[in-house]
Amino acid sequence: MTVIAVFNQKGGVGKTTVTANLAATLVQNGIAPLVIDLDPQAHLTATWGLNPKSNQTMYRFYQGTSPLTDLIQTSGPGIHFIPSHLELARVDSQLGKHRDHLWRLKLALEAEMLAGSGTPIIIDCSPMLGVLSFSALLAADLILIPVAAEYLALNGACMLERTLFGLEKFDRRRERRYLVNRFKEGHETHEKVRAQLQKHFPRELLNTIIHENDDIMAAVGDNLDVFSYAPDSSAGTDFSFLLDELIEKGLIAIEE
Ligand SMILES: Nc1ncnc2c1ncn2[C@@H]1O[C@H](COP(=O)(O)OP(=O)(O)OP(=O)(O)O)[C@@H](O)[C@H]1O
Ligand SMILES: [Mg+2]
Repeated sequence: MTVIAVFNQKGGVGKTTVTANLAATLVQNGIAPLVIDLDPQAHLTATWGLNPKSNQTMYRFYQGTSPLTDLIQTSGPGIHFIPSHLELARVDSQLGKHRDHLWRLKLALEAEMLAGSGTPIIIDCSPMLGVLSFSALLAADLILIPVAAEYLALNGACMLERTLFGLEKFDRRRERRYLVNRFKEGHETHEKVRAQLQKHFPRELLNTIIHENDDIMAAVGDNLDVFSYAPDSSAGTDFSFLLDELIEKGLIAIEE
């Protein structure tokens, strides 16, 4: 499997953080992923210190005037990256009425031989459920869902399951995995929430936990991933466990 959509319709749970650091972990392991910023907030684009014109971003792809391959840039740590722009927010009103547009990303990834090429593709989704997020979910082999270890996480996960179930009406079931983020060992609520998720989603909940870690937030402030910011940080260890688990479970296919 190669295309991973990092999604949760709840905002601020760590989608961009997980995308950036999973990509950095792949680079640490000698694999250069392709990362797509599909969030009009363009946080990932800004995190990597880019401020592109809209015609250099995914907006141009959705305008139908550029193949994906022409939009790929290389960011500092050796990641292939297609940036986002605030203008992407217009895609929903421009294209939302025609269902065919939901397939455009999947078809382009396949036609341009990006999907299935052995390069993992990671898509940072917006928390909005519209053309952009649906096109990422339909393009994905795996939906990776960061959840914050707080009350209502289970509610949010159940709502998300209903959304994903709706998608299955017009295409096959996507593998999905929940990833607990911002976890504090021994914190009563965090432990309780994780146990609830484990009970409801025994197969879908990943064993890996991303702990609350100041290095993660500080790294963003310096436009870096945790490996570049603090090479010995335990946050790097968490993300390395995540990649190992995804590989072990056959959820990321890495070409040797
Ligand atoms: N494990 C963590 N430890 C410490 N801070 C974290 C952790 N995960 C995320 N954060 C911080 O939480 C904030 C929100 O994270 P992030 O932007 O990744 O969420 P998001 O789901 O992408 O948000 P949005 O829905 O707006 O796109 C950021 O400031 C980020 O640095
Ligand atoms: Mg984000």
